[in-house]
Amino acid sequence: MPSHILDQKQIDDLIGRAVASRKKAYAPYSKFSVGAAVLTAESNVYCGCNVENASYGLCLCAERAAICNSVVSGGEQIVAVAVAAVPLAMPCGACRQFIHEFGKDITVICVDAEDPTRRTVRSIESLIPDGFTFDK
Ligand code: THU
Repeated sequence: MPSHILDQKQIDDLIGRAVASRKKAYAPYSKFSVGAAVLTAESNVYCGCNVENASYGLCLCAERAAICNSVVSGGEQIVAVAVAAVPLAMPCGACRQFIHEFGKDITVICVDAEDPTRRTVRSIESLIPDGFTFDK
């Protein structure tokens, strides 16, 4: 169970940042734009979008971009990640593992960017049970 209590305003702000970040997506190949926003324990928000490449295997997901942004900005404890797409999309397996690296209690909120009231909220542990870790 997530140990952090997220208040509704924090969640709505985080979703708003993910929706706004989606507009920055560089997705000329798939045309599937994704935005993500990371909320830290210090109430800071770090954003990302997907960034594609002509060499398709190099495409970077929005979630990983946002987490990298949070790491380079100081590496605060991540408490939630919001993901915005149309239609609502759940994080890919690689992103689940990437999120799991930064906290087993992280809350993942996936929304339809055109109607953010449509949302799915999950713990990262439920999205990647027994994810790989060096922790005992
Ligand atoms: N994508 C994400 O940004 N996050 C995910 O969790 C799944 C997929 C992106 C990658 C690619 O640019 C596009 O969506 C289509 O797969």
